[in-house]
Amino acid sequence: MTIIGTPKESAAGENRVAMTPQSVGELQKLGFDCIIQAGAGKAARFADADYKEAGATVVKTAADLWKKADVVAKVRPPTTAESKKMRKDQTVISFVYPAENQKLLDTAKETGSTVIAMDMVPRISRAQKMDALSSTANIAGYRAVIEAGNAFGRFFTGQVTAAGKVPPAKVLVIGAGVAGLAAIGAAQSLGAIVRAFDVRPEVAEQIESMGAEFMMLDFEESGSGEGGYAAPSSPEFREKQLELFREQAPDVDIVITTALIPGRDAPRLWLEDMVKAMKPGSVIVDLAAERGGNCDLTVKDEKIETANGVTIIGYTDLASRMATQASSLYATNIRHMMADLTPEKDGKIVHDMEDDVICGATVTHKKKITFPPPPPKIQAIAKAPPKAPEPTKEEIAAKEAEEMRRAGVREVSMLAIGGLLMMIIGLYAPASFMQHMIVFALACFVGFQVIWNVSHALHTPLMAITNAISGIIIVGALLQVGSGSWLIVVLAAISVLIATINIVGGFMVTRRMLSMFQKS
Ligand code: NAI
Repeated sequence: MTIIGTPKESAAGENRVAMTPQSVGELQKLGFDCIIQAGAGKAARFADADYKEAGATVVKTAADLWKKADVVAKVRPPTTAESKKMRKDQTVISFVYPAENQKLLDTAKETGSTVIAMDMVPRISRAQKMDALSSTANIAGYRAVIEAGNAFGRFFTGQVTAAGKVPPAKVLVIGAGVAGLAAIGAAQSLGAIVRAFDVRPEVAEQIESMGAEFMMLDFEESGSGEGGYAAPSSPEFREKQLELFREQAPDVDIVITTALIPGRDAPRLWLEDMVKAMKPGSVIVDLAAERGGNCDLTVKDEKIETANGVTIIGYTDLASRMATQASSLYATNIRHMMADLTPEKDGKIVHDMEDDVICGATVTHKKKITFPPPPPKIQAIAKAPPKAPEPTKEEIAAKEAEEMRRAGVREVSMLAIGGLLMMIIGLYAPASFMQHMIVFALACFVGFQVIWNVSHALHTPLMAITNAISGIIIVGALLQVGSGSWLIVVLAAISVLIATINIVGGFMVTRRMLSMFQKS
């Protein structure tokens, strides 16, 4: 049986773990035996006993684990000492950052082990469940707001109390990728006024749907690049962007910067003069600290306070500060990767280099360095389509006139056909039947015209009207149900049944829609 194992993270201050008691159960269902180094989950609050209970075997040392495991899943890239333990035909899955880790790639190539980089999983819909960068960034964005709140001396939300009026905090989020959107969500839910900026115009909708304000730059340039990431912006664009930030600096209380283009140093966007222009007590959380920082004054891994009282947080371990949550999500990402690698769920790894996701994430395989991978065949996030030129007023008027003319012709011809049909029926049918038939046909026509033109947003009030109509049907049917003819009794009973279903269904749908607006 194939064995998957997780060692204790050796990097100082790393609290996360790549396997949780829950993921043990799921990996077993894929046909794997799980082993874990003693104490590996302790910092993330998972005890050895929990792993044992889930069915994993606890091994004493890292050396033991690396020797036994066919697949080693961990968080941080293998250190030099760890890479010496790698062996032929072993698969190692972790964050790798292959562009900066040539030595690790060389060692893996020599030993013949396969290395899968969780940070290289392409950002395509199918791979979202394995996207460890996103799950980590999501936590980092949330935690950035919590850290900011901790350093900020005021409420996020505005309040009117007996002790005075408190204005809401103003939060500016720069870079609305995964971390940025998580920060927007967290700040928004705490009640702050949130503004956000990104070079990719397609994120505007996402920002606004979260209730934040998208700061538009009046500039004819899109910052969208390949694979859902940004492209470097021109110097003119940057100048405009800095101008906007300079305007915002004295107004905002908290700035959370997450701007990054993969494979490059973080762009400098919050310059020294902007920090100086901020109010005392303001906070900057620079998520890009690892890559040099978006802010001029960020000190990596530290929290500093400037002479004018602005706190700048440059922690690079935000996800590790929420180790239990981060480990659970990362372990789930790993489990999904393993599910893709074992299509038959029999514990046998099928390393399919034709698969976009597996190929994209693999950095060494069969004694070859496979990084960088070919670009994925599927586009990550569709770029915003080019805007069609705005039609002129005359064009709009002409289009409307043409549409009205067409609709008129359609209606007149329908009426003519209907009239003709009535005449033909009238030639043969009895007079009493004709009277009912004409009322019925007109009711269908008017009903259709009314309902067809109701917009989606008004479907709930429409349901109230149909309920009223159903009520009238029931009254009519009840009057008929006592009739002597069995046919009329049956038809009336069916009418009562169907109209009742309509009314009850209408109430149920309305109730469900209303509950969507209620806070639980
Ligand atoms: P992402 O690639 O999803 O988002 C980055 C965003 O920045 C993109 O939307 C991009 O369009 C935008 N951007 C790029 N250049 C820009 C510019 N000049 N102006 C404005 N926006 C710009 O990346 P993700 O996953 O959200 O990560 C964001 C940052 O957070 C990265 O720097 C990452 O390394 C960092 N991070 C930090 C952690 C920590 O503990 N400090 C943990 C996880 C991530």
